[in-house]
Amino acid sequence: MSQLSKYLQESLKKLYFIENSLIDEFPLILQKVKSDDLKQAMQLHYEEIGDHVRRLEDIFVELGLPLEEMESPSFRELLLEGSEALQKFDENPDLLIICAAIKVEHTKMGHYVSFLHALKEQKNKKLHTKLQMSLEEELNVSKKLESLLS
Ligand SMILES: [Fe+2]
Repeated sequence: MSQLSKYLQESLKKLYFIENSLIDEFPLILQKVKSDDLKQAMQLHYEEIGDHVRRLEDIFVELGLPLEEMESPSFRELLLEGSEALQKFDENPDLLIICAAIKVEHTKMGHYVSFLHALKEQKNKKLHTKLQMSLEEELNVSKKLESLLS
């Protein structure tokens, strides 16, 4: 197997781990949100995360791979940092949630961009188009979250 294929598989498993973890974490984070705007933006994105998971599963199937996760230490670290901040600074939880969410979104975008690059190298247009949608949704939510900071 080429190094690119191995890299592609690892990226896919890490993304799958992150998206699945977010499905579990999101409802807990939502309980801490105060403003309606942030609640609405996050609820909308929660539905998109479900689509992201399904798209990744389609890609596992297309590549003939078993559904498998790979731990992402950087993602774990961001979750930990976010929950520690919420315990330490309790004045404005929404601000902390937005900052933590933007960090997570940017991490995911990095993974999607790397994965998309690998797919492009392999000239896999079908899968590239599918995942491009997930990347765009991440970009949009990240901009939306940023707008809620102002
Ligand atoms: Fe996201």
